[in-house]
Amino acid sequence: MKAMTTEQFQQEIRLGIPATLPEARPYDPDINHAPRRKDILTTEQKRLALRNALRYFPRELHAQLAPEFAEELRKYGRIYMYRYRPTYEMRARPIDEYPARSRQAAAIMLMIQNNLDPRVAQHPHELIIYGGNGAIFQNWAQYRLVMKYLSEMTDNQTLVMYSGHPLGLFPSHPNAPRVVVTNGMVIPNYSKPDDWERMNAMGVSQYGQMTAGSYMYIGPQGIVHGTTITVLNAARKVGGDHMKLFVTAGLGGMSGAQPKAGNIAGVVSVTAEINPKAAQKRFDQGWVDELHDSLDELIPAVRKAVAEKRVVSMAYVGNVVDLWERLADEDVHVDLGSDQTSLHNPWAGGYYPVGLTLEESKQMMAEDPEQFKQKVQASLRRQVAAINRLASRGMYFFDYGNAFLLEAGRAGADVFEKGEKKTENGKLKTENGEVTAAKEKKADSSSQFSVLSSQLTTFRYPSYVQDIMGPMFFDYGFGPFRWVCTSGDPADLAVTDRLAAEVLEEMTKTSPADIQGQLADNLHWIREAGRNHLVVGSQARILYADCEGRTRIALAFNDAIRRGELKAPVVLGRDHHDVSGTDSPFRETSNIYDGSQFCADMAVQNVIGDAFRGATWVSIHNGGGVGWGEVINGGFGMVIDGSDDSDRHIREMLFWDVNNGIARRSWARNRGSMDAIKRQMEKTPGLKVTLPNLVDDEILDNL
Ligand SMILES: NC(=O)c1ccc[n+]([C@@H]2O[C@H](COP(=O)([O-])OP(=O)(O)OC[C@H]3O[C@@H](n4cnc5c(N)ncnc54)[C@H](O)[C@@H]3O)[C@@H](O)[C@H]2O)c1
Repeated sequence: MKAMTTEQFQQEIRLGIPATLPEARPYDPDINHAPRRKDILTTEQKRLALRNALRYFPRELHAQLAPEFAEELRKYGRIYMYRYRPTYEMRARPIDEYPARSRQAAAIMLMIQNNLDPRVAQHPHELIIYGGNGAIFQNWAQYRLVMKYLSEMTDNQTLVMYSGHPLGLFPSHPNAPRVVVTNGMVIPNYSKPDDWERMNAMGVSQYGQMTAGSYMYIGPQGIVHGTTITVLNAARKVGGDHMKLFVTAGLGGMSGAQPKAGNIAGVVSVTAEINPKAAQKRFDQGWVDELHDSLDELIPAVRKAVAEKRVVSMAYVGNVVDLWERLADEDVHVDLGSDQTSLHNPWAGGYYPVGLTLEESKQMMAEDPEQFKQKVQASLRRQVAAINRLASRGMYFFDYGNAFLLEAGRAGADVFEKGEKKTENGKLKTENGEVTAAKEKKADSSSQFSVLSSQLTTFRYPSYVQDIMGPMFFDYGFGPFRWVCTSGDPADLAVTDRLAAEVLEEMTKTSPADIQGQLADNLHWIREAGRNHLVVGSQARILYADCEGRTRIALAFNDAIRRGELKAPVVLGRDHHDVSGTDSPFRETSNIYDGSQFCADMAVQNVIGDAFRGATWVSIHNGGGVGWGEVINGGFGMVIDGSDDSDRHIREMLFWDVNNGIARRSWARNRGSMDAIKRQMEKTPGLKVTLPNLVDDEILDNL
């Protein structure tokens, strides 16, 4: 990497797409590159893809660039325009280092560069931030053009983004968003996975995931926090003040957050990981405390840690099925159980069946896929049988959004609830009279839950959104509020941590009982956050807060900027895994039971409303955690600079951003939301939300 002065960096940003051909950049084998994409285009469509790519460049360069781009398309299935990858170091710089006429635009440049930082991005040279296909831009020409536009725009312009492509700068006004982003917004009938492959290869659409295409990704901290509060609340559901034992699987990309979260949540955790390299990586990072490859050694160590009430995270380097069976055979009391193997991808390396080594599995999945599939299914049946034995002795097991129950069910494992009866509001009454949340399933044959439409039953274990995130967080407006200190100074982040903790402490004194637990968890989290060294890339932090919490924390930051206690503006945002931003029937809105879980009005309204209430940028995406065509999600970024305008934007926009989702959840008859929105109406003149009337079951039963 060539060392560059700030002036040279600024010059390269201002240059945008250079008029002459830059030097070719060699393909760096040390970087984690995106997999080769499907060869899906017809010959005619390939010509179109090239024509599309070349429109970013002056005609005199076309003869030279065309064969190069054709080769990229052939080799990688996409045209990334590697030659145009910038030569400067890719990382979030302090805001004042960006060439800009708008401070808001400079903050957006910082966020974009942070997403693309090789320490942060999954496949940085292919502009993929996370999740295998979560893109910020489709190619380097788009990146260069966007940075140039941002460097020259004023607060009287808005940049319009179509799936990574900058349509241009349009006149607007200082209270309008500086950037409006759409990603993957296609006509609904053209939203199958292959449609994405095709449109992305032609350079006209992209999978923005959630925070990738909205410039809001902050590295692994988000998943550590989400996992921590899930584990904390799962532990709370178990009850009692004894030391809890949490057993799970997976130390991969996101699942690797489990042991760290277990430590922060104060439990003993055991995470099985079949791949020694993945386990070693997390051990070297300090995310897991102990590695064990012998169950004879592990089981006594677990019993001892629980007895001594010693918070510790252990990895079992082996197959999770062996672990579950041994725990069940030896009658170890497990309080919490889950699984984060990659069962959304069961036949190609997401799940390794018991009885085979890693290498044997890899060989079999390539050479005898049918036999491999049978092994996976047999393994899942054994895994569930052991889990069921422990659950019958009191373990609380939950699905972690990785399709564990779905695939286990398809494999014929005993995961289905028996003998339940529907009651009012879509709840289920089981044989023992217990009432749990119902799991409505999509009947469409393409659905990941289509297996259930014929069996017409529900899982005996809940998913983490149905049981924890939905009713405990989203329904009350608690969601993943995050911020970035644009000074780039860790001291600023420490100030914001302190201010946020002070606000939460204040709130716990007067808050209603039903949200005390969430406040306490997040207070615990933010007090520990500095010590847990969670920052990778920009000086960012995340916590879960409700409308009041988010607003008060943001106002405290704005005041600190005004006083000069914080040295530079702060970017506020959130991920899309939230109360209002995301319509996703298999995740964020899986606890909506009035039939509207497949409607996406909320996500769209959310972003429109944010845009005219003070967001600095807004984004709306097709795709996200659970797949293209399965979810619509929206988000925002807001730059606060210590001004009165920022105070107003905070109050108006955060209010809408949280409460529109609570209102929708209330209309869906979610109890927590009905209470929360009534409380909000009492406090807020001008807020008038339509409330549902509940029907007695007998009236419907007697029809
Ligand atoms: N609900 C959420 O918020 C959420 C968050 C993160 C991940 N997920 C889901 O969790 C899954 C895991 O995500 P990831 O990014 O960590 O994937 P990953 O593929 O990087 O990690 C999964 C790990 O499981 C290990 N594994 C597979 N089979 C095993 C077995 N039988 N025994 C022991 N170890 C085994 C693999 O070696 C791998 O390291 C995905 O399906 C993802 O969609 C959900």
